[in-house]
Amino acid sequence: MQHLVLLASLVSLCSGSGDWCYPSQFTCEHHCNTPEMWSHTSTVCAGKFQSPVNVVTRKTLLDQRLTPFQFSNYQQTFRGTVKNNGHSVQVGVNHLATVMGGDLVTGYKAVQLHLHWGQNGGPGSEHTIDGEQYPMELHIVHMKQQYSDLSVALSDPSGVAVLGFFYEESRSTNRKYDSIVNALRSITHPNSNTSLPPISLEQLIPSRQNLTSYYRYQGSLTTPGCTESVIWTLFHSTIPLSKEQLQAFSDLRFHNGKPMGGNFRPPQPLNGRLVYHSGAASVLASAALLWAAAGLTLGLSRAN
Ligand SMILES: *[C@@H]1O[C@H](CO)[C@@H](O)[C@H](O)[C@H]1NC(C)=O
Ligand SMILES: *[C@@H]1O[C@H](CO)[C@@H](O)[C@H](O)[C@H]1NC(C)=O
Ligand SMILES: [Zn+2]
Repeated sequence: MQHLVLLASLVSLCSGSGDWCYPSQFTCEHHCNTPEMWSHTSTVCAGKFQSPVNVVTRKTLLDQRLTPFQFSNYQQTFRGTVKNNGHSVQVGVNHLATVMGGDLVTGYKAVQLHLHWGQNGGPGSEHTIDGEQYPMELHIVHMKQQYSDLSVALSDPSGVAVLGFFYEESRSTNRKYDSIVNALRSITHPNSNTSLPPISLEQLIPSRQNLTSYYRYQGSLTTPGCTESVIWTLFHSTIPLSKEQLQAFSDLRFHNGKPMGGNFRPPQPLNGRLVYHSGAASVLASAALLWAAAGLTLGLSRAN
């Protein structure tokens, strides 16, 4: 508690003009704008349709148009570059991999992927589900196929689609993440990069049959400029990583030399927006309800 009070007073005493940052980066020697001050960096960050959000599952609405996605070239391997961009770890996607369906109006192609995580393996996702924060969140950023530049896509209110995945701590090591986790020690300094052995997008996410259940809402980038042009998809199925793998992300450093972590924006108000869920999530639940209702009817008719 005392720590919190102290931190809060430090933030208010020392905040001033500067770059945007996360609270975990803030020091009195380096003034930077923490999330509640991001609107000083970009006014859009104070907008009404910001991300991330907390998803209250009992308030989500079923949307039958949220059918399973069609992924193409997600299984294709590519030689990517992974870099420490000062705020996160980012992998550029340099081949054509697209996602369609799921009520997206057109195909969207993958541009880059990056992560948000906690401090030393602690809570670190941006979106939360019923208030639960996961240790890490993957964002695969896509733009409408017709665009060749993300900044142009961002000027279209539905120009960008981000697929969001949550991680869960597992007992065993996830070997499919070895190449990314092993590369981290080569990119501890901001603006450093290294090439990865061939990887596919598919190997980084849950298996296809586990991707039919997801949430959908309209929001923004979760870093400044906070542009409100993002169709968000958050999958139920999580990606397992061991504690050691999660902690390895804290080997990275921010510009001020502090371990990188806590690089998530807190949930933003929905301001009347609705969050939808795909059919698949509810099929099981509604089947169970149907059976319960049938049983009840049967029981009642017998009682009569
Ligand atoms: C990787 O770093 C090198 C050396 O700083 C730089 O020339 C190159 O453009 C970087 N590549 C990427 C993809 O960021
Ligand atoms: C996929 O879903 C099944 C059934 O819910 C589960 O047992 C399995 O672990 C999941 N696989 C992945 C990769 O998430
Ligand atoms: Zn992100």
